Amino acid sequence: MLTDKRILLIIGGGIAAYKSLDLIRRLRERGAAVRVIMTAGAQEFITPLAAGALSADRVYTDLFDREAEQDVGHIRLAREADLVLVAPATADLMAKMAAGLAGDLATAVLLATRLPVLLAPAMNPAMWSHPATQRNVARLAADGIAFVGPERGEMAESGEAGVGRMSEPLAIAERVAAMLVPAPGPLAGRHVVITSGPTHEPIDPVRYIANRSSGKQGHAIAAALAALGARVTLVSGPVTVPDPKGVTTVHVETARQMLAAVEAALPADAAVMAAAVADWRVAAEGAEKIKKDGSGRPPALALTENPDILATVGHLGDRRPRLVVGFAAETENLIANAQAKLARKGADWIVANDVSPETGVMGGDANTVRIVSAAGVEDWPTLDKGEVARRLAARIAAALA
Ligand code: CTP
Repeated sequence: MLTDKRILLIIGGGIAAYKSLDLIRRLRERGAAVRVIMTAGAQEFITPLAAGALSADRVYTDLFDREAEQDVGHIRLAREADLVLVAPATADLMAKMAAGLAGDLATAVLLATRLPVLLAPAMNPAMWSHPATQRNVARLAADGIAFVGPERGEMAESGEAGVGRMSEPLAIAERVAAMLVPAPGPLAGRHVVITSGPTHEPIDPVRYIANRSSGKQGHAIAAALAALGARVTLVSGPVTVPDPKGVTTVHVETARQMLAAVEAALPADAAVMAAAVADWRVAAEGAEKIKKDGSGRPPALALTENPDILATVGHLGDRRPRLVVGFAAETENLIANAQAKLARKGADWIVANDVSPETGVMGGDANTVRIVSAAGVEDWPTLDKGEVARRLAARIAAALA
């Protein structure tokens, strides 16, 4: 579960350092590569030889070690990992971190790093509860540093009880995994098919009928659903927005290609048809570029209706996705038209938006939508398209739960 993850483990100077040897093993048995830095204090408790044997790598100890600085260097150490783990994090080390000191290799790396940092504090309970330490903990937490422990228990050296014991290596390894491997989202195991963008309907080899859709909203919905763990197939018309990360994007030009790609992507748990599909195409596409004939009369372009992708998917019978969501772009009678579309197209929800030119929705970044369903009409405030996407994704996750 930590396969291919690289952990930079900084071992501070406390008796709990002996547990860090076991921690190296726990991290490695989960598949992580572990690189170790030891402070001078840590070397009073355990040897670099032991840590190096367990990490199967050299151990870094000195900021001014010419060989190590030329070979890797503290800046590279601070970058070449996925997470920096400090265990044990002593009161002294945390105070230095909170103050931004960088007088040795461990603190220099901690100041130079931009990676997530996890501290496993270990110290005497009196030191932990001291206002100075608590101030430093609050400062570090505000700086974005994560903590695991300390736990309540008996101290190794004095037998005193209180909060200050380092968390067990297993618990620390689990926290590392939780920070590096996101928990499965609510849509894990679900497949969603999305259409987005305009379609281009050829008139002849050089001309086409198109519309002003940018694909921003549909692409944002694809990204938001993927972020919730869904497997997403995005069928996109010609757009300039980039393919969303973590999504399978199929590029098409025409409505007929879009329908074929959607049918090929089924089965799905949900379908979100956000594309601005051209309603008509030219009945007889010119095989050659249409030329002026000199008469001064324009050519007659006979149009024919395109397949309705949403209505096709909405009426698929047992292959119909459990949730079918359509969009209604209207310039007038928004709700009435959306309600009519809901019924006609067999959709569960229609995301209705006013696309009158004065709203700037087409191609713009903001959107004011209403969710029309059998349950009624839900008004959403004006939001940027990313936020509309996240809310819609959350609503879809709730509906499929
Ligand atoms: N839609 C579709 N295939 C089409 C036309 C529209 O899948 N050939 C989908 C759109 O992706 C959208 C919904 O149908 O989810 C409504 O699109 P809209 O253009 O508003 O509706 P139309 O069916 O074109 O109705 P009208 O032109 O009468 O407004």
